Amino acid sequence: MEIEGKVTIVSGGASGIGRAAVLALVDCGAKALVTDVDEEGGWQTVEMANEKGGTAAFRRCDVTKSDDLDATFDWATERFGRFDIVFNHAGISGEDLFADERGDWARII
Ligand SMILES: NC(=O)c1ccc[n+]([C@@H]2O[C@H](COP(=O)([O-])OP(=O)(O)OC[C@H]3O[C@@H](n4cnc5c(N)ncnc54)[C@H](O)[C@@H]3O)[C@@H](O)[C@H]2O)c1
Repeated sequence: MEIEGKVTIVSGGASGIGRAAVLALVDCGAKALVTDVDEEGGWQTVEMANEKGGTAAFRRCDVTKSDDLDATFDWATERFGRFDIVFNHAGISGEDLFADERGDWARII
């Protein structure tokens, strides 16, 4: 798949695998729209991408809220005319999914 020039949305881009994906994508010449609930980490990722000479922007988006998702897709389209790839890496882990006393299963899904 050709990555250069593609517009990508990365959820969970403020840290971990999502951040690594943003940095790899800009290395390959993609534009990266970083989203996360962690605003400080999200802007840090943008700074790191820009330091590499990439094009990146941040928007807060909680992937559990459909209004946030709709607004993020609109923002991506307004800002870059389209989006080609969504890398959905926002996530949390739970301790005991099968007991699920705290409703972790539903939150994770
Ligand atoms: N790192 C691993 O080895 C590994 C292995 C298997 C699975 N995973 C899973 O992959 C996912 C990412 O792993 P990671 O190591 O990058 O974790 P991480 O915690 O570093 O990154 C997850 C990001 O998702 C964001 N996030 C959490 N809830 C969100 C929400 N509702 N909306 C938007 N953003 C949200 C967090 O703020 C965080 O920046 C997690 O679900 C993790 O359980 C990780």
